[in-house]
Amino acid sequence: MVYILGIESSCDDTSAAITRDDIVLSNITATQDVHRKFGGVVPELASRAHQQNIIPVIETALQRANISKKEISAVAYTKGPGLLGSLLVGISFAKAFALGAGIPLLEVDHLQAHILAHFINDGSGSWIPPQFPFLCLTVSGGHTQIVLVNDFFDMNIIGQTIDDAAGEAFDKSAKVMNLGYPGGPLIDQHAKEGNPVAFRFARPNIPGLDFSFSGLKTSFLYFLRDKIREDKDFMINNRNDLCASIQASIVSILMQKLRLASEITGIKEIAIAGGVSANSSLRNELLNAQDFYQWRIFIPKLEYSTDNAAMVAITGYLKYLKKDFGTQVSTPYARSKL
Ligand code: KG4
Ligand code: ZN
Repeated sequence: MVYILGIESSCDDTSAAITRDDIVLSNITATQDVHRKFGGVVPELASRAHQQNIIPVIETALQRANISKKEISAVAYTKGPGLLGSLLVGISFAKAFALGAGIPLLEVDHLQAHILAHFINDGSGSWIPPQFPFLCLTVSGGHTQIVLVNDFFDMNIIGQTIDDAAGEAFDKSAKVMNLGYPGGPLIDQHAKEGNPVAFRFARPNIPGLDFSFSGLKTSFLYFLRDKIREDKDFMINNRNDLCASIQASIVSILMQKLRLASEITGIKEIAIAGGVSANSSLRNELLNAQDFYQWRIFIPKLEYSTDNAAMVAITGYLKYLKKDFGTQVSTPYARSKL
């Protein structure tokens, strides 16, 4: 049996997980509330909070998994992409732990980890992982990609955003409505009470499988500005409809490209990953497409959608099986290497 300690510290969540082979024994995440009052992640504060959180989070993960440090076979950590100061906390801890215990290191790419979260065995007995090749729509605060997954570590990006990420579109729309941070889950919540066709915003016209969200953001901003000029209470009185409408626009852009990718590649094995894959409307649209287009769909559990260490541990486990170990002289990277 292989026990992996996974560590995730690429942005504002400090997370640790323990896996036994492909089963998750524990997955503990400390979110950092310190950023809320700034309306976005402050990198300097994130690194400091990781420093405070990392030991307690790892100790809790070990306790919940009911195993001792000595039983860990290897340490997997997120090497990038992400905030360098944040990544450095995870990588430094991982190196020290591996050195002390005399066990190997496993270097994990955050975006691959979001996708490989689909290989976490839920232990139900009826669990079936995606079959290769499959398509994965990875949508997070920093990335929006359609990835052709040929094998665990053989992935090609066949479409991506040319400007903002889908998560940014949610977060920035929430910011102009003064909803708070992070905006995605808040828009999702308000949208449940709103009408998704109440308002219409400009749709991008980008050829192929690439995405663009900056035009939608501007269209939303100007629309609100004009309406507030006419009625200063417009935003408060229409909050739920605004949330439902902007959410419907973002989801429809994502689904349109995902359908096109399936059409072009002929692949009907479709997964979603990343923080925005927690969105209830995106999940519903995918369920509808499953019936309509005879797709086989893979939606991660909520705890494996947003940043978490279980996805890092499972990716580490898959690397461990290949004996693809890391080194003590590795350094983190800020930009995607996928
Ligand atoms: O993957 P993630 O946790 O961190 C990054 O790697 O970026 O994604 C965070 C993003 C944020 O933009 C957040 O607003 C968005 O995921 N998000 C959501 C929902 N939950 C998280 N967006 C829409 N609906 C949600 N329910
Ligand atoms: Zn992420």
